[in-house]
Amino acid sequence: MTFRSCVAGIGHYLPKNCVKNTDLPAHLNTSDEWIRDRTGITQRYTANDEETTAYMAANAAKQALAKAGVSAAEVDAIVLATTTPDNGFPATATRVQALIGASNAFAFDVQAVCSGFVYALSVADNFIKAGQAKTVLLIGAESMSRIVDWNDRGTCVLFGDGAAALVLRATELDKELSSGIQSANTNSTKLRDADKRGVLSTHLYSDGCGYDLLYIDHTIETPNKRGGVIMNGREIFKSAVKKIGEAVEKALAANKLTVADIDWFVPHQANERIITGVIDHFHLPTEKVVITVDKHANTSAASIPLALYEAVTDGRIKQGQLVLIEAMGGGLTWASAIIRW
Ligand code: UT7
Repeated sequence: MTFRSCVAGIGHYLPKNCVKNTDLPAHLNTSDEWIRDRTGITQRYTANDEETTAYMAANAAKQALAKAGVSAAEVDAIVLATTTPDNGFPATATRVQALIGASNAFAFDVQAVCSGFVYALSVADNFIKAGQAKTVLLIGAESMSRIVDWNDRGTCVLFGDGAAALVLRATELDKELSSGIQSANTNSTKLRDADKRGVLSTHLYSDGCGYDLLYIDHTIETPNKRGGVIMNGREIFKSAVKKIGEAVEKALAANKLTVADIDWFVPHQANERIITGVIDHFHLPTEKVVITVDKHANTSAASIPLALYEAVTDGRIKQGQLVLIEAMGGGLTWASAIIRW
């Protein structure tokens, strides 16, 4: 049997506290103008003490399950992408499991920093394709505000907190359709869009030679007392458009698609200038691009699912449409995927 991982529901959680650029502490000596010009960010959400990574993830997960009409007991696996777990161990996904009562699931975290969501999607998709799980809760959740150095204006203004979750369900590819034989209710041997729903491909990359470009320094005082972010933003910026471009090209080629076939481009939301660079490189129409970095800032592994949530909820992304996602982050890691929604 051949299975596809189809999106059955999506949910999200944003912290109650929204910090606008103009609300940032005076000691940072930054400005709304600098942050907007260099990044496109106007605000970010920051978690309070109650809003742990697991709490946000669990709330997003409950909403996604409700949208999908799936009970927590039906979940076979929880795959949580995060670089800000509540603890070194156990995995934050196990806390989420307890919070939502997914007692039949196995649960673990995936750590690939800003590429984490695409990596976790790939892991979840492979469990489904292998027949090892039928229903997977795929979550991206971060409390970046707990690991940034609130004395470093070069990093703390860039990040935000939040979570979003997708319910992925195994759908058996109709044998008739998968073999390309004419279906009784179609006039063509071409697969109907609705029959081709699901994760079409994932491409994952890493280059450990970039390890020191973005990492945690354990000597820095941060709210979670586990060290703070050090980033060589300029170097990462330089490789971002190139590496993302290569991953996007691989995804398109693997599916025999062109940019014109893509309905929605949902990039990792780190910096509007990086997104613009990719848009320009591929001559993508801006109306096909989902941008949320202005409102959420960089929420690392949560940024793509939060953007997906927004575009699905406001009616832009519709069932059957082709969605291209990509990310790049610490490691270095980068990745792309194409989903027929
Ligand atoms: O998602 C994970 C991967 N991360 C990324 O994709 C981040 C990629 N990098 C970037 O987005 C950009 O490099 C940044 C937004 C981080 C920085 O933009 P930049 O144009 O590369 O600025 P810069 O770091 O070269 O700094 C330029 C100037 C410096 O001042 P001097 O040395 O020229 O006097 C900084 O000190 O801007 C200064 N600066 C600030 N000024 C006001 C840095 N941060 C701030 C700030 N407010 N918040």
